[in-house]
Amino acid sequence: MPTPPTVDLYEQAQQAVLHIRQRSSLQPIVGVVLGTGLGGFGRQVQHATAIPYAEIPHFPRSSIAGHPGNLLLGAVAGTPVAVLQGRAHLYEGHTVAEVTLPTRVLSLLGCKTLIVTNASGGINASFRAGDLVSIADHINLTGVNAAAGPNEPRFAAIPQAGQRFFDMGEAYSPRLRTLARQKAAEVGFDLPEGIYLAVLGPSFETPAEIRAFRSLGADLVGMSTVHEVIVARHMGLEVLGLSLVTNPAAGVSPEPIDHHEVLDIGRRAEGRLTELLTAILAACSAAPNPRRQP
Ligand code: HPA
Repeated sequence: MPTPPTVDLYEQAQQAVLHIRQRSSLQPIVGVVLGTGLGGFGRQVQHATAIPYAEIPHFPRSSIAGHPGNLLLGAVAGTPVAVLQGRAHLYEGHTVAEVTLPTRVLSLLGCKTLIVTNASGGINASFRAGDLVSIADHINLTGVNAAAGPNEPRFAAIPQAGQRFFDMGEAYSPRLRTLARQKAAEVGFDLPEGIYLAVLGPSFETPAEIRAFRSLGADLVGMSTVHEVIVARHMGLEVLGLSLVTNPAAGVSPEPIDHHEVLDIGRRAEGRLTELLTAILAACSAAPNPRRQP
């Protein structure tokens, strides 16, 4: 039997785009990834076309409660958006290429800005369950890097992107971090910043690991996000990361960590996250990303 021709990552992403284009002609400028328990923001998307991941070629499916698995195309506060309602994780057995394919697709659809959200454990004892934190930087301890493998310059969203080696010095855009803080203040709450450390999971951490992570400078711990941010920076997208602290990390409080608690805190904080994201997206339509090409 002849072996079927292998379809490379770029072609896979293009096949996904082709399918999406048959369902909606919307040109999104901002992509949003909604993390565990945070899918409710999807209700804000007006005139939404919802496409289940299961119908999109090569999209991974999440098996985890709290991850509905739809791509929504529509508008929020006048800004055309593509929203990934739920994500796949490495700990489910997906490869890093599979986990990041939807982010690659957001860029090919036209997004020049990516807003990633997630649930995290609070390592910094000043963070309480229910706090929203803007990610200032990350530490990737998952053991893999999403940009490893053959380099694919065709993913570049702006001329200087798509390089084999690329800078991660301002992975989380200072401009968008400032905007997010301003908008949070306008909506009526503080938005502190923190360093997000990513682990593979699915086990939560041991107290000894959390002590070690604190000494490395981490404020938050979670099992996602960094790979999406790495491929977004490879493509030249501007990135904002918002993390919802759903629990004190292991050993910070004596209570055991429970996934249902993560979901419950997510539901309770959804209102604030929705207000903040809507205010940020309104500003994106008013003042477009300066890096966007004409
Ligand atoms: N650790 C890792 N991931 C998480 C946590 C945690 O404590 N809470 C929510 N996601």
